[in-house]
Amino acid sequence: MNSDRKKRVYVETYGCQMNLADSEIVQSLLDTDGFEMSPLMEEADVLLVNTCAIRENAEQRIYGRLGEFKRLKQLNPDIVVGVLGCMAERLRTKLVEEHARGVGQIVDIIVGPDEYRKVPALIQKAWNGEKGVAVQLSRVETYDDIMPLRTEGKSAWLSVMRGCDKFCTFCVVPFTRGRERSRSLSTIVEEVETLSKRGFREVTLLGQNVNSYRDGSSDFSDLMRAVAGVDRLMRIRFTTSHPQDMSEKLIGTIAETPNICKYIHLPVQSGSDRILELMNRTYTTAHYLGLVEMIRRNIPGVTLSTDIISGFPTESEEDHRDTLALIERVKYDGMYTFKYSPRENTPSFKMGDDVPDEVKARRVNEVVALAKIQAEEINRRYVGTTGEILLEGESKKSPDEWQGRTDGNKMVIVPKRDFSAGAYVNVRFTRSSAATLFGEAA
Ligand code: SAH
Ligand code: SF4
Ligand code: F3S
Repeated sequence: MNSDRKKRVYVETYGCQMNLADSEIVQSLLDTDGFEMSPLMEEADVLLVNTCAIRENAEQRIYGRLGEFKRLKQLNPDIVVGVLGCMAERLRTKLVEEHARGVGQIVDIIVGPDEYRKVPALIQKAWNGEKGVAVQLSRVETYDDIMPLRTEGKSAWLSVMRGCDKFCTFCVVPFTRGRERSRSLSTIVEEVETLSKRGFREVTLLGQNVNSYRDGSSDFSDLMRAVAGVDRLMRIRFTTSHPQDMSEKLIGTIAETPNICKYIHLPVQSGSDRILELMNRTYTTAHYLGLVEMIRRNIPGVTLSTDIISGFPTESEEDHRDTLALIERVKYDGMYTFKYSPRENTPSFKMGDDVPDEVKARRVNEVVALAKIQAEEINRRYVGTTGEILLEGESKKSPDEWQGRTDGNKMVIVPKRDFSAGAYVNVRFTRSSAATLFGEAA
């Protein structure tokens, strides 16, 4: 191998936004160590995949990608293949043993979410023929001192806390990401200052349970206020909030602060109290509906989205109808729907998986259909009104159009004019669908 040039690393990321943020941390560590990032896997010396373990199908996709990496490694055996993230943490060495499905032998390094500082050294060792596994979880690691390597853009992710202590019975996250811990408020604010100077126009504060953030005497509401004060032209978003930690104080801060976006993702998972209890979600539907009411009363025009799991163990038709009824009452702007996927070693795994797949699929379809009707109805009310959007760039569907987002996170398509990405544009909405608003610059 030509040793004069920098070694090139290709990184592919799956899973949630926290994984996207983590990949930027890994790339920053590699950049500092003298590696170069490459967008082309065919030209890379190192292939890394940052993985998700949340559902069985997420892991299936990763095995598919490893099959592709295998093809490249057969052409060039010097290539180092690394599996990072939640699936690495969950499966550990099993990834190269029984679960390997014919692709395990090509994996050189396995690194869990709290051991990314070791990635550069493990890659070097792999070139010396040593396989590396680093999957220790930490109670303190937050990568607080590392400035993520971000591609230039207008929107940045920023992890403010790691891990999760909620232990919902269906969920692998507490096992793959470990205990909850927060970064310091001051370094987060510094990072946002840097982003502002570099021209970023939007920051999303991330955590699996972001509203349980705590640094000394500062809570998430204090953090939001501090971050929003850095640059009033910068939009501040956050995800994900757990209903149990959604405080009145935080709702007040969102309401009072103009550049905190009026959009809350508030996963409910189920509309049945019996199922919520089995899920260990720690709230009832009454509490959740009360929260929604308080949010809407205090934050006029707020948009809401949620996550729903269909087919949790023992979920009956009545439980499912309760979920539809809750959705009917709340009326969401957006929704993410999932078929329950049993995950080994989680508490609900022992409850069995008694809802047949076709029943899960039918229930998900019913939830999706209802969500679509609601979103269409809500979006129709925007037609004829005006609103401000932040332009993100060219529309994915047409080079003649721009796409942007409202404060409430609605995707908006407008005909191209001489605006640039990162501009705030006033738009009159002319047409709508369940997922998109269409408009023209007002
Ligand atoms: N921390 C976030 C969720 C992160 S995972 C929260 O608590 O809101 C994103 C979503 O994946 C969850 O909200 C849940 O709806 C879904 N999910 C998690 N585990 C799952 C499983 N075993 N099967 C199906 N969906 C699951
Ligand atoms: Fe998983 Fe529950 Fe934690 Fe969300 S709050 S990451 S669903 S355990
Ligand atoms: Fe997946 Fe891990 Fe995120 S399991 S959803 S990548 S925290």
